[in-house]
Amino acid sequence: MTGGQQPVSVGIVGGGLMGKEVAVAFARWAALTDHPARPELTHVCDVDPAALAWFERIPSVTSRSTDYHDLLGPDGPEVLYIAVRHDLHERLYVDAIEAGKSLLAEKPFGIDLRSAGAIAAAAQRHPESFVRCSSEMPFFPGAQAAIARVTSGSLGRIIEAHSGFSHSSDLDLRKPINWKRQAKYCGVNGVLNDLGMHALHVPLRLGWQPDRVFAVLQDLVPSRPGPDGDLVTCDTIENATLLCTATDRFGGDGAQPFPLHITTKRIDPGQKNSWSLRVLGMNGGVAFSTRYPKTLRVMSVADGEQVWQEVEMGSQSCFATATGGIFEFGFSDAILQMWASYLAERAGQLGDRFGCVTPEEAVDSHRVFAAALDSWARSEVVQLP
Ligand SMILES: NC(=O)c1ccc[n+]([C@@H]2O[C@H](COP(=O)([O-])OP(=O)(O)OC[C@H]3O[C@@H](n4cnc5c(N)ncnc54)[C@H](O)[C@@H]3O)[C@@H](O)[C@H]2O)c1
Repeated sequence: MTGGQQPVSVGIVGGGLMGKEVAVAFARWAALTDHPARPELTHVCDVDPAALAWFERIPSVTSRSTDYHDLLGPDGPEVLYIAVRHDLHERLYVDAIEAGKSLLAEKPFGIDLRSAGAIAAAAQRHPESFVRCSSEMPFFPGAQAAIARVTSGSLGRIIEAHSGFSHSSDLDLRKPINWKRQAKYCGVNGVLNDLGMHALHVPLRLGWQPDRVFAVLQDLVPSRPGPDGDLVTCDTIENATLLCTATDRFGGDGAQPFPLHITTKRIDPGQKNSWSLRVLGMNGGVAFSTRYPKTLRVMSVADGEQVWQEVEMGSQSCFATATGGIFEFGFSDAILQMWASYLAERAGQLGDRFGCVTPEEAVDSHRVFAAALDSWARSEVVQLP
């Protein structure tokens, strides 16, 4: 124990974009003013030696390996963060769980619904392995404030809600092909596998389980330059627009269905990496986008008129930090908060704070993705159980 914090050894499998992001989030752990645990990044695994070499800058890393099996034994870390291609999720996640390791698994938690179910079943067979799935954007203070307004019931009967995640870098047709743009690695769900969990985490946590789905899916870019400059097939959907129905239980007007828009877009001109949530009710509304991370927009109804106001958000999220309350919050802060939430819940000390995606929620998100593909293929509304 250091300063009352239980040390927890962590290993990263997949030291690419996200593996590095998580490593640097741990380096800022001291910013958390009151947390039961302290992660120590001890092990890193990547098949690419260049990715492994990057971790030489992290002094706590004592083991670098190209084979993830090296991390699964008793000398390996207690917790694994696995951030690899989607076609590798099932094998690596199930092996980690069966080795008794706790796991923060990157989304989409398996390449498809079957695969997500197999991972969730492994987690159920091994309760000693604490398993959650990554989704950090709801830890932005503006998102937390929006969620609090919804759960307070103050919005009244829900009129409609929108939850989405938008990028735009795919507008650049010169951008080279990568695994995220090839169905055999990313999955046929395409952008839904990339961004869908982000858009569904909050609705699912609010109990807004979609029960009907109508989807419009767009494959906007058929090919991209390969390593030698020749065009290579880019067979994943870029944009997915889902109109669902869900039922609200916070508005105090009985269980009422409402339209829930879920949008995941790799090409949404005007956005770069914007997660957004907008909920409108008969008594009030709330809107937040990470595009404007300091601004929460709230609506109230006065004398029958809609009154929109802005509330400036500061730095504080679920877990208090030493960061000045008026300072800005960003992506790396969200990663820190997500890990704080994961390790607090693992230690049984989450309390009523916002938790990471559960295996059940991850499987539910895949049910929605599968329904969306089915809906688009048949041009029909698909009913979910
Ligand atoms: N939470 C988020 O905001 C977020 C953002 C981006 C990506 N992701 C997810 O993170 C995961 C990884 O995405 P990324 O962008 O970091 O990808 P990446 O391609 O940048 O990194 C993946 C790394 O895995 C390594 N790798 C491949 N096979 C391996 C194996 N068998 N063992 C160990 N390492 C192996 C690669 O060499 C590479 O360094 C995906 O599931 C993706 O959907 C999440």
